[in-house]
Amino acid sequence: MLQGKKILLGVTGSIAAYKSLLLVRLLVREGAAVRVIQTPASRDFVTPLSLATLSKNPVHSDLFAGDTWANHVELGRWADVFVIAPLSCNTLAKMANGLCDNLLLATYLSAICPVLAAPAMDEDMWRHRATQDNLQRIRGFGNQVIPVEKGELASGLFGDGRMAEPETIVEFIRSILLERKDELAGRKALVTAGPTYEAIDPVRFIGNHSSGKMGIAIAEELAARGAQVHLVLGPSSLAVEGDGITLHRVTSAEEMHRVALAEFAAADIAILAAAVADYKPVERAPEKIKKKDGNLVLELTRTPDILRTLGGLKKPGQTLVGFALETTDGRSYALDKLRSKNADWIVLNTLSDNGAGFGFDTNKITIFGNDGSELAFEKKPKQQVAKDIVDTVIGRNPFVKRL
Ligand code: PMT
Repeated sequence: MLQGKKILLGVTGSIAAYKSLLLVRLLVREGAAVRVIQTPASRDFVTPLSLATLSKNPVHSDLFAGDTWANHVELGRWADVFVIAPLSCNTLAKMANGLCDNLLLATYLSAICPVLAAPAMDEDMWRHRATQDNLQRIRGFGNQVIPVEKGELASGLFGDGRMAEPETIVEFIRSILLERKDELAGRKALVTAGPTYEAIDPVRFIGNHSSGKMGIAIAEELAARGAQVHLVLGPSSLAVEGDGITLHRVTSAEEMHRVALAEFAAADIAILAAAVADYKPVERAPEKIKKKDGNLVLELTRTPDILRTLGGLKKPGQTLVGFALETTDGRSYALDKLRSKNADWIVLNTLSDNGAGFGFDTNKITIFGNDGSELAFEKKPKQQVAKDIVDTVIGRNPFVKRL
């Protein structure tokens, strides 16, 4: 619940502005006090009257009304969080460059609270280098950006650029306002992430499509709550942020196994999100294999099963979480992995769910516990999925009573 929390909502000119009405309603229902600032352009999409009625507060729009100056400093200081949803391409560019030609921007520049932005635009605008640079810039100023969703866009095209749903935005607000900092202080965590590459010869390998996003999000979430995290990351081009993360970059399943084994002994919690190759070539050719007529037969052998190894070594007090990535019969494979690998939890994601699994910014998971619990979650950004996983396995999820 957001009871008593003070939320300043900035609405900019985008077709997604209609969703800001739903957002205000959800926030007010949660008990939050909501005040709204609109840019002049946004009034073409949603009226001040609707926003004022739902928020139960007058809407602020102009820097000057008659001979009265709107106190943007007061608004910025009043709020516990300033949420800009939708964030248009135009306002994003102004935020990135410190422009100040309306009340929303003046308030943004003087706000001392956390700022959360939910962009909304057409896919081509979203993908434009200028937009991505501007996003990077406002992130660099300490603002948080809620990932856009894929779907039907105002242009009629289908792609990235839809504003996150109001429910998702509320979850981000909760995650900022409901403090979880330091709840894992003094705890040690091990996370595996990304793919592994098993060399065939000096130029080829057996690998998979994992980007590392899911595991990195989990490591960052654990670190944000104060844990000391060892992240064992297979080949991934992604950067890892967050104090408290010791990064071990590895390439093969064997290397990942070796580091995970070394770090597991001291870990209170281990979450294995890596997509580890199950097989590797029996021999790695010392030179590039030259193509010849006919087929090439590679003999493969099993790699170490890290989750199974750790399950065999697990001591009382340690929590072991595995993933299951399936294409069919997800539930039964996940339950089988829970038992056979001696895990406490298995997080199932299935490639048949749109927007789940490899590479996406979102995932859709079901978590199975060894106490028989089974929790299905909606599709969400991976950062939110990471929060759900951590909440669940450390006992913060209100639907699970354990630990
Ligand atoms: O990295 P992203 O692009 O964000 O994608 C995320 C993801 C899809 C990779 C992730 O969400 C995921 O599902 N990770 C597990 C992928 C997998 O290999 O699943 P599995 O069902 O094959 O393995 C089951 C469990 O055993 C996993 O915890 C895996 O890390 C572990 N395992 C598997 C093989 C092996 N040799 N050693 C292991 O530890």
